Amino acid sequence: MMNYNTPPIAIIVALDEQNGIGRDGELLCHLPGDLEHFKETTRGHCVIMGRRTYQSLPKGALPNRTNIVITSDTAGNYPGCIVVRSVDEALACCKGEETAFIIGGGELYRSTLHLADKLYLTRIHHTFDDADTFFPEVDLNEWELVHRETHKADGKHMYDYSFLTYVK
Ligand SMILES: NC(=O)c1ccc[n+]([C@@H]2O[C@H](COP(=O)([O-])OP(=O)(O)OC[C@H]3O[C@@H](n4cnc5c(N)ncnc54)[C@H](OP(=O)(O)O)[C@@H]3O)[C@@H](O)[C@H]2O)c1
Repeated sequence: MMNYNTPPIAIIVALDEQNGIGRDGELLCHLPGDLEHFKETTRGHCVIMGRRTYQSLPKGALPNRTNIVITSDTAGNYPGCIVVRSVDEALACCKGEETAFIIGGGELYRSTLHLADKLYLTRIHHTFDDADTFFPEVDLNEWELVHRETHKADGKHMYDYSFLTYVK
C-alpha cells in the first residue's frame, strides 16, 4: 500500500509462459473465460490504465467501473475516463475505494509492480513467439498463492489457462 490514504493496489493481467501480454497494441489471444473473470473481478472498482491500453479497448471506457487513464496527453479525448498524468495522481483518485486495479499495459505494470498488494494473474499455458509487450519479471516466491483455478482448452479457448491469485 502506498500510504494510509490509498487503497490496496491489485494488478490484474493475462500473461503467457514468457510473461508476454500483447502484440501490435492488442491482446495475445481471445479467451472469453478470462474476459469474464476480468469483468467479475474489477466490476464496481477503479481501474487504472496506461494510454495505449485505453486506445486498445474496442468500445472505449469499461462499463460499471471508474476508468482512470494515465497520459501526458491530458488534452486528448478519453470519453468516460478520468485523465491523469501520473500513478500518484491516479491513486489519489481512488482514495476511499476498496481496491485500485492496475489493468495494464506493460509500461504501467513496470512502474507499479513494487506497489502492488495483490496479483490476479491469468497464466496462458502457451508461448506467443511474436509477443512484443511483456509483464515485468516477478519473483512469485515472494508472494503467497491463495487461489488457483485451471481451465482446459475447449471450443472457445485455444489454450489451457489458470487463474492465480497472489498476496504479499
Ligand atoms: N494481457 C493483459 O492482461 C494486458 C492488459 C493491458 C494491456 N495489454 C496490452 O499491452 C499493450 C499496451 O501496453 P504498453 O506497455 O504498450 O502501454 P501502456 O502501459 O498501456 O501505456 C503506455 C502509456 O501510458 C502512459 N503511462 C504508462 N505508465 C505511466 C507512468 N508510470 N507515468 C506516466 N505515464 C504513464 C504513457 O502515456 P503517454 O505516452 O500518453 O504520456 C505511456 O506512453 C497492448 O498490446 C495491450 O493489448 C495486455
